Amino acid sequence: MLITGVSGLLGNNLAYCLRDKFEILGLYLEHPVAISGIRTLRADLLSENSFEDIIHEFAPDILIHCASLTNVDFCETNRDITDKVNVIGTKNMVESLRHAETKLVYISTDSVYDGIKGNFAETDAVKPQNYYGVSKYKGELEVLKRNGSLIIRTNIFGWNIQEKFSIAEWIMNELSNDRSIKGFKDAFFSSIYTFDLAKILLAAVERNLSGVFNCGSRTSTSKYEFALQIAGHFKLNKDLIQPISIADFDFKAKRGKNLSLDVNHMRRELNVDFPTIKESVQSFFSDYEQGIPQKIKHLKPDI
Ligand SMILES: NC(=O)c1ccc[n+]([C@@H]2O[C@H](COP(=O)([O-])OP(=O)(O)OC[C@H]3O[C@@H](n4cnc5c(N)ncnc54)[C@H](OP(=O)(O)O)[C@@H]3O)[C@@H](O)[C@H]2O)c1
Repeated sequence: MLITGVSGLLGNNLAYCLRDKFEILGLYLEHPVAISGIRTLRADLLSENSFEDIIHEFAPDILIHCASLTNVDFCETNRDITDKVNVIGTKNMVESLRHAETKLVYISTDSVYDGIKGNFAETDAVKPQNYYGVSKYKGELEVLKRNGSLIIRTNIFGWNIQEKFSIAEWIMNELSNDRSIKGFKDAFFSSIYTFDLAKILLAAVERNLSGVFNCGSRTSTSKYEFALQIAGHFKLNKDLIQPISIADFDFKAKRGKNLSLDVNHMRRELNVDFPTIKESVQSFFSDYEQGIPQKIKHLKPDI
């Protein structure tokens, strides 16, 4: 299995979860990572040749393409580089597979939907509200040129190996340091814990699923309620969470208000358990108690 973006949140957590199931090669760009049991290599998505060589030499059965620019506000004001990495980079990746029999899995986002009605199904219109969403959708179109590919539209939380935070880590960090946070009471999502997503992805590749699928928790919640759930598990001060409307927050890039996903198509296809968002937060907490974040964060190489 080849994983791009192995130094990122999802790539890293997937490599950690799946390393006993596959021989994994993980690719990073600026942040070298070491994960016991997997090989890692530096490769730039924008350099076509390096991917051709890697694919020729490693001959992956499965490629999980997680590498991407993901900062929504950065993407809004840096559209050229966003296009280069998220669209041209994905195109390069698809083209470098032309002589390979590799199964391509592309990680897309709930931000391809407009966030108005919520509970989006794959058959609903795509109408991204920001340039990040546009670029991810353009990436999907590149991936669809390769028959048999799998596209996953998701939203995630988990454990970063880098010095940055997923939404759940950010809530924990702010509340632990006695800082108050704002929680959107009218912004909804179906975020899923990366370790839960890893189990679903494993089932999907084992069954050679192809096409476009929403994949997240099977229920949704507001970001305010999500913060309360994290605070509850970690016994942090809930009074520090201030409920506000997303309309009262000044983002550079527009956000969809209700990006909740209908994940029933994928549930039916795979017949595996999809967690509720409460169960996903519970698993995140249980893994914390088991010392998983320390294990992940201590896997950095001394380079
Ligand atoms: N995080 C979320 O809530 C969320 C929600 C919905 C969808 N997604 C999707 O899930 C996927 C993974 O997201 P994430 O949060 O794990 O991302 P992330 O933590 O921001 O990591 C991005 C990864 O992409 C790599 N990368 C960036 N530019 C590259 C380039 N030119 N060549 C090669 N690698 C490059 C980075 O490498 P270096 O760090 O080594 O430079 C890093 O490993 C993305 O496709 C994203 O769109 C994420």
